[in-house]
Amino acid sequence: MTIQFSAKIFPQADLRNAKQLKSGLKSLLAQASDCLVLAYSKTDLDSFVGLKGAKGKSGLLVELDAFLGGSLSHANLIGDLDAQQASVCMLRSEKSWSASGIKAKRVLLLSLGDSHLASERSLVAYSKIARAALKALSGAAIENAVWFTPSFISGDSVEMLAEAVRLTIQYAGDQSYRFGVRQPAMKFKAKDKADTFKHLVFAGNDACAKELKTAVAQGVAMVEGMNFAKDLGNLPPNVCTPTYLGKAAQSLTKKAGLKVEVLGRKQIEALGMGSFLSVANGSDTPPQFIVMRHQGGKTGEAPIVLVGKGITFDTGGISLKPGEAMDEMKYDMCGAASVIGTMYSIGLMKLKKNVIGVVPTCENMPSGRATRPGDIVKSMSGQTIEVLNTDAEGRLILCDALTYVERFKPKAVIDVATLTGACIIALGHVHSGLFSDDEHLVTALTKAGHASLDTVWRLPLDTAYHEQLKSNFADVANIGGRPAGSVTAACFLSRFTEKYKWAHLDIAGTAWKSGAAKGSTGRPVPLLVNFLLEEK
Ligand code: BES
Ligand code: MN
Ligand code: ZN
Repeated sequence: MTIQFSAKIFPQADLRNAKQLKSGLKSLLAQASDCLVLAYSKTDLDSFVGLKGAKGKSGLLVELDAFLGGSLSHANLIGDLDAQQASVCMLRSEKSWSASGIKAKRVLLLSLGDSHLASERSLVAYSKIARAALKALSGAAIENAVWFTPSFISGDSVEMLAEAVRLTIQYAGDQSYRFGVRQPAMKFKAKDKADTFKHLVFAGNDACAKELKTAVAQGVAMVEGMNFAKDLGNLPPNVCTPTYLGKAAQSLTKKAGLKVEVLGRKQIEALGMGSFLSVANGSDTPPQFIVMRHQGGKTGEAPIVLVGKGITFDTGGISLKPGEAMDEMKYDMCGAASVIGTMYSIGLMKLKKNVIGVVPTCENMPSGRATRPGDIVKSMSGQTIEVLNTDAEGRLILCDALTYVERFKPKAVIDVATLTGACIIALGHVHSGLFSDDEHLVTALTKAGHASLDTVWRLPLDTAYHEQLKSNFADVANIGGRPAGSVTAACFLSRFTEKYKWAHLDIAGTAWKSGAAKGSTGRPVPLLVNFLLEEK
């Protein structure tokens, strides 16, 4: 990571408590930093500007202005102080500051606006404010900042505080991500230089000390996992091969204490994964089957299993894709990358749960040995599949992985895949598609999505759609025609998940960005990490 994050406790700094306000502010201002970041409410502003109805001149901004020798009054005079949510006001040190013992070189003020930050949409509002603050901090000569976290949260919701801290780290990590930094061999571009911004300190007080420290550690672990996932996604397909993915997973043994097993072609054959192998057939690069274990819970405790689609390049096979933007099919392993990244995160966090990550990985290539449209293959479950389109390959590798994971007697299984172009048509690049018949999983994943702003939207799985998958020659066909393409893909998978509770995430629209900002997003690592943190 290029930015460092830490927590620092100012025990008595409760700025909402009139008795502690002065001493609290003083201790924050006396902390040496390039910038102290504080948020103020509409009430703070109203009483500062002496609005009618406000209870006299008191409160955060009044005291701050006194400490800063009138800098804030001046900013207000020239119109820099605004009530609008997420507006920023940067105060820069003047001679008088150091005379009164202030060691902060700048104070960045953020307006919370008048929205109630404790409401349903509070995290969305917070994210807008946090983004504005991070933007103001970057691009300046600022190397470090002290972010007084409690000022951003109304009331004493420690849960909200933890979510806010993780989200801030997620955003700051996202903003500072550079492909070349951790991949020196891949440093193709000089502009891959890191930001000037280096260290963000989350300041808190006694009331939130424990939660703040935990949330910082969790956020940092999450960003590590996201960065890992992004790097894997962004690597070119001649580097990020199935073998490379296997090695990347294996590197997590040392880095995060995971147990990792990588099965090769022979072992995959012995398991009877005829469907998976039918996709790998056309490629000269051998398929791999990766199993990663995090044993943080009790022995014998049922694990949560994550399964990720790992097509390192999807040409479509014999049902060849059109050439335009085909390079983006290197991202067809982003499901796998997010599973590996999530396993990395929870390993670093030492999450007290048993979690297993499984990745079937291969290339989908045309060749003399490639599967033909019309071929019938036998899956590990025993069901035969008529391959009507070799470009619907994700489901063919996932179905065998979904059968394989039965052996873990999982508490729940979640698969993650860049499965269908139709999901982009349905949901665009905003939500990942969520498919599940288990109401608990739907609720938990939806909630985790809101907490990380890595959101999902539920789509149906009704039996009526299964009709489209009927085959005249085999148990099931691998495509169901154009209507509801994402739904029939999920229905296909559901035929292999009858032994456990299951949810499917279609991340075709959310795993990477096209266009000028082309690159991997690291989604849905935040969603999965938050889900695993909260899941009881
Ligand atoms: N990897 C693609 C899905 C995809 C397409 C993701 C575009 C992101 C952008 C998948 O393997 C695929 O090719 N799906 C086909 C299915 C069809 C043949 C039924 C699709 O979506 O066109
Ligand atoms: Mn395909
Ligand atoms: Zn694909």
